[in-house]
Amino acid sequence: MNAAELKAELTQKIEAANDLNALEEVRISALGKKGAITDLMKGLGKMSPEERKVEGVALNVMKDDVANLLESRQKILKKIAMDARLKHEKIDITLDSRPERKGSIHPITQTMDEMITIFADMGFDIHDGPDIEDDFHNFTALNFPPKHPAREMHDTFYLPDVEGKEGDEAKRLLRTHTSTCQIRAMLAHKPPLRKIVMGRTYRSDYDMTHTPMFHQLEGMVIDKETNMGHLKGCLKTMYEKFFGVEDLPVRFRPSFFPFTEPSAEIDIGCSKSKSELKIGGGDSWLEIGGCGMVHPNVLKAVGIDPDVYQGFAFGMGIERMAMLKYGIPDLRTFFEGDTRWNAHYGHDPLNKPNLATGS
Ligand code: DAH
Repeated sequence: MNAAELKAELTQKIEAANDLNALEEVRISALGKKGAITDLMKGLGKMSPEERKVEGVALNVMKDDVANLLESRQKILKKIAMDARLKHEKIDITLDSRPERKGSIHPITQTMDEMITIFADMGFDIHDGPDIEDDFHNFTALNFPPKHPAREMHDTFYLPDVEGKEGDEAKRLLRTHTSTCQIRAMLAHKPPLRKIVMGRTYRSDYDMTHTPMFHQLEGMVIDKETNMGHLKGCLKTMYEKFFGVEDLPVRFRPSFFPFTEPSAEIDIGCSKSKSELKIGGGDSWLEIGGCGMVHPNVLKAVGIDPDVYQGFAFGMGIERMAMLKYGIPDLRTFFEGDTRWNAHYGHDPLNKPNLATGS
């Protein structure tokens, strides 16, 4: 068989190969050690130099042509194989969910969603910030003086110092409170401001009421005439909506935070019996958060003139709110990832918090 006949035959075989294995067989039969083209190549040795020159060129051209044909057929067959595989492995996402494996919303997420609904209705929007913070946002700008004992009270987790910096500037830490975002919000936006922040916070502490990671809600309002009466009204409205209790007693007890002056601890009214804690009414009080008027030094630290603007801020633990509302006794269980706990305390994902329905 001469080169032209062989090429015609191979071309036909290549086109007829309808999977990658069949194509590989054709390749071996043509270009393999004992292949037809290899055979013809061997024959070149027996020819005269003139003959070899002509035949050699023709044979090499033919060999390249066949190799190219094999390659393009291989591409086509690979695509066909991939398409078939994709079709076969397709996941039909329109399948019904399996009720026996239904997920649920974690009480922390649920509580946050409820808070967003309540605060959005009061004209607040959300601000955010990083979990890894610096000394400026966590302490200095919030009017914690250098070496002040309040810095130690926070049981801070420090990260290795930033290279090339010194002292407080080099410090990196896991934020100990969401108050860091007061600073971030005020640096990012000009007053008037109404912001809430929710997120993870970290302190080196672990027992029934403390976990090294927990969540806080922070709120702030900065305007020209905002005062403590507004603060109390805002908190009272929020707690009443959150706990679904009308006319909930709210009490402020004098306290100290470096970033507020005056500062107060927030208590809400409750009744306690041996077996039950009921929010509202009663003659007992439950501590639920901290608050105060933003300290003039904090406003100065972010370039806001304290002679023109003033405002309030408050902070509270989200787990504590969830524990009180949903009767969850142990803080640590929030983060154990026990699916039975999740199923019991979790919420229906389709039942989103909504002020109109009161849930
Ligand atoms: N950052 C405080 C803490 O973690 C809570 C707090 C108290 C926040 C008073 C405030 C506030 O905004 O005004 O203990």
